Amino acid sequence: MNILVVGGGGREHAIIKKLKESKKVQKIFALPGNGGMASDAECVNIGAKDIEKIVDFALKNAVDYAVVAPDDPLVLGCVDALEEKGIPCFGPRANAAIIEGSKVFSKRLMRKYGIPTAKYEVFDEKEKALSYLDSAPLPAVIKADGLALGKGVIIAPTREEAKQAVEDMMGAHKFGASGDRIVVEEFLEGPEVSVLAFTDGKTVKPMVSSMDHKRALDGDKGLNTGGMGTVAPNPYYTEAVAKECMERIFLPTIGAMNAEGRPFKGCLYFGLMITKDGPKVIEYNCRFGDPETQVVLPLLESDLLEIMLAVTEERLAGTEVRFSDKHAACVIMASEGYPGSYEKGFEITVPDELREKVFFAGAALKDGKTVTSGGRVLGVTEKADSLEEAIEKAYSDVERIHFKNAFYRKDIGQRALKAGK
Ligand code: AMP
Ligand code: GLY
Repeated sequence: MNILVVGGGGREHAIIKKLKESKKVQKIFALPGNGGMASDAECVNIGAKDIEKIVDFALKNAVDYAVVAPDDPLVLGCVDALEEKGIPCFGPRANAAIIEGSKVFSKRLMRKYGIPTAKYEVFDEKEKALSYLDSAPLPAVIKADGLALGKGVIIAPTREEAKQAVEDMMGAHKFGASGDRIVVEEFLEGPEVSVLAFTDGKTVKPMVSSMDHKRALDGDKGLNTGGMGTVAPNPYYTEAVAKECMERIFLPTIGAMNAEGRPFKGCLYFGLMITKDGPKVIEYNCRFGDPETQVVLPLLESDLLEIMLAVTEERLAGTEVRFSDKHAACVIMASEGYPGSYEKGFEITVPDELREKVFFAGAALKDGKTVTSGGRVLGVTEKADSLEEAIEKAYSDVERIHFKNAFYRKDIGQRALKAGK
């Protein structure tokens, strides 16, 4: 089969590497992909949001199946557009991708169907939000309704900061139309767990759990990023917690989407917080997480393409989704300065024997060399029998990969290690 993967980050590289293991796969196109993954897929310079061009490319290149990985094209209806032309896809249609595309939608869904989440209020007028914040509990969590590149959530410890966040979103339109409506919600506490789940709208098959490290600096300090590293499985996701999540969150969410006439097919990402009152949903994403995918898929033992096809054809119940019981750790190497401004264009050197363990994100090809072109440059994933060993191996790989201004957290997985003790 000829497969098209929409997207160009580390997550897409991890998906592509896994798909390559499938006997059915003949050719993989990545739109746009990135220079670092050029040996694994044919990268075509079409942007992930350029839906018309994506459809046109798929039709002209005998694409049999498309995997739409990032949130933007999913929310914009890339799957709908491809399916309309007869190309089967992995990923939700726009009317289901709204579960990530609108926080107001997802909060209302959870309230309506009794799915545990933080208490909240919705505002579409700045003045009302500001006056609510005069007496709201602190810290206050302010969220832009729409997509905001993962930057639309502000945790404000003081009233001044909370009000500033509202001014930025609703007054200065920092996130464009995404901030015209906001959610103000209760601050929850507890360890966070990411669970990605395959679902065909009938059956849910969760993947191995994982833990992200969102802050830029060691000790969970500094600015929020797209994620600086991940480990899997997440030690806080015990069997008892998993059972509770399945009964109170996963199945009710799939049922709720069906009841709303928005069946969700694809990978549904549950961002969970394990509070003292049990697991609660922090956020839904309509896609694989990045960099969660870089630890989850390397642990997948079943054929990814077979699972994806089963999701599309709504026969997931009869399809095996098996994970190894090993541990995985992924360390992201970024450009110094990320998530703020940074320099790019520096040559990246990766020893040949590490190539299979590296997932490229902000990398480009220039004069036959791989160079840095983004904030998160690449991720290195190692697997081992223990988490400790996986972390150690990943960091020893990092020492052997070089580019100017490389920056990475030194403590990926440390919190998870402590949880087990
Ligand atoms: P999100 O973009 O919704 O994943 O939010 C980004 C991060 O903000 C999450 O991973 C949490 O660490 C944090 N966060 C979001 N909502 C809450 C909340 N209600 N209480 C505490 N932390 C939160
Ligand atoms: N790593 C968080 C996300 O993919 O949204």
